Amino acid sequence: MFRQPIVTVLGHVDHGKTTLLDYIRDTRVARKEAGGITQDIGATNVPMDLIFEIAGVYLTPIKDRIKIPGLLFIDTPGHLAFSSMREKGGAIADLAVLVIDINEGLMPQTKESLEILRKFKTPFVIALTKIDRLSGWRCHDKDFTGNFEMQSEMARQEFEKKFYSRVSELAEMNFNVELFNKVKDFTKEVAVVPCSGTTGEGILNLFVVLIGLSQKFLSEELEVSKQGKGVILEVKKEDKLGSNIDVILYDGTLSAGDRILVEGLEPIEIKVRALLKPVSIQDIRVEKKFIGVEKISASSGVKIIGKNVEHAIAGSNFFVIKSEAEKEKLLSEMSSDKKSREIEDSKSGIILRARTIGNLEALLNVFGSFPIRRAKVGVPTKEDMLLLENAPREERALICFGVENSFAEQAAAKKIKVIEGNVIYHLHEEFLAWRENLEKQVEAEKEERMKKIAKIKFLPDFVFRQSNPAVIGVEVIEGTLEEKQKLMNTEGRILGEVVQLQKEGQIFKKIEREDRAAMSISGATVGRQIREGDIMYTFITREDYRALKNYNKVNLELLEEIRKILGYR
Ligand code: GTP
Ligand code: MG
Repeated sequence: MFRQPIVTVLGHVDHGKTTLLDYIRDTRVARKEAGGITQDIGATNVPMDLIFEIAGVYLTPIKDRIKIPGLLFIDTPGHLAFSSMREKGGAIADLAVLVIDINEGLMPQTKESLEILRKFKTPFVIALTKIDRLSGWRCHDKDFTGNFEMQSEMARQEFEKKFYSRVSELAEMNFNVELFNKVKDFTKEVAVVPCSGTTGEGILNLFVVLIGLSQKFLSEELEVSKQGKGVILEVKKEDKLGSNIDVILYDGTLSAGDRILVEGLEPIEIKVRALLKPVSIQDIRVEKKFIGVEKISASSGVKIIGKNVEHAIAGSNFFVIKSEAEKEKLLSEMSSDKKSREIEDSKSGIILRARTIGNLEALLNVFGSFPIRRAKVGVPTKEDMLLLENAPREERALICFGVENSFAEQAAAKKIKVIEGNVIYHLHEEFLAWRENLEKQVEAEKEERMKKIAKIKFLPDFVFRQSNPAVIGVEVIEGTLEEKQKLMNTEGRILGEVVQLQKEGQIFKKIEREDRAAMSISGATVGRQIREGDIMYTFITREDYRALKNYNKVNLELLEEIRKILGYR
């Protein structure tokens, strides 16, 4: 027996995810046919017969080969705050629809969704929505290919302009996409289906691609096994129902009265008191919003009521347990699973801490490109802090995903960067910003340490003091003049040391090209070692020269002039 593939709908806020699903749901409601779409908990079940009705002749060639009973769509909120839900939706998705508004293009949560899909290697199709808003566009035919032929020249041009902008934005993120009816190989190209949730254009094409993807990419994973398995989408507390959890069962069956084991830091056991489904859209007259069901099978969404549910954590997997032996086996699997995914102590890197193994996995996926010293479930420990204290500066970071850190003061004192939060992408962004800042700082420090070089001119008529020390007006011709630098003449003879630089009565540690200043110089007397109009250079040692030569920010021409004077090689 095959279950329906879970199709997660992802995309930026307001790009039209829900509208697209509404259109599909309304088709059935409008036709008032029995056995139609069920609006599950956070999921919409579209049976195969309806898909045949919508996509009709386009599916005829493969009709006999289709084994799946339908598609289960999971709508996800596009708002920034729901990253972890998108993560989870992405993780359990067999397939995905990425919704992009053709008029707006790639937005932050579009990019985030793309990264999730890439990470989980989920086959997906791009729904380029709101094509009805293109100027001059008309919907004469629900099939995009046919309808495109009927558009005015202007509307077609408008479409192509926007379509190719989207294609190039996606190419920038290294996604190779193509208009669905031109895709030759679905394993190499991502199909793009232009569509509209308002007119329904392109939706049949979307179904054809989705069925094609499920035929191509999914088979064994859709075979329903005996064991019931699912994932918790939300933990809620509602007035009439009390505490409850919204879950998606993605394998096997689940019945009222079953016991389930939810993974977590401490796995918890829940006895399912009731399984609730929303009443179908046709039964508006019923007062109650939910009705109890005895048994469900994968894939479907359901609300669970039972003791202990409030302790479950959204995003955790759960398993139906039929006996004590099965429970013991699962518990030991969970703990070895946890161990196998945790990173205990590698040689170097940052430290990751998460609340559940699922969260830790997500964290590892996102931070995987950085060296990771330790990645564990649970709160940070003293030992973590000790490891970080002794780590090099760029590895002194502790990422806490959904766990509290009680070492804030210690971390601050030891310059350990702690990044805490419940939204994985925020953690990642903050981490990247920290790294970037650190790199800049390191670069600035290097620049600070590097000897400065300069070529300066003794300005005629600017002798403020003859000697002890001489104070003269200078202009920087090239480079940077700094306090304490030794100066030499054009023959390489050392003249003295810069004592102080003053501009308009203020003291400056250094002055740049084209700046003029009054410079006091020790060891030199005007008229003897230095004369008005003289050109002078900063003196550097052979070691300074070697270091400067390999420094990417040095003024190479000036360095070469100085090298020649000093005869260094
Ligand atoms: P979130 O759930 O907040 O992430 O948004 P969403 O992606 O579900 O967007 P939703 O479907 O709520 O649509 C947002 C707005 O765009 C609504 O005002 C819709 O009426 C409008 N809209 C969505 N799809 C289309 C479309 O294909 N054509 C037109 N003209 N408007 C659309
Ligand atoms: Mg929505």
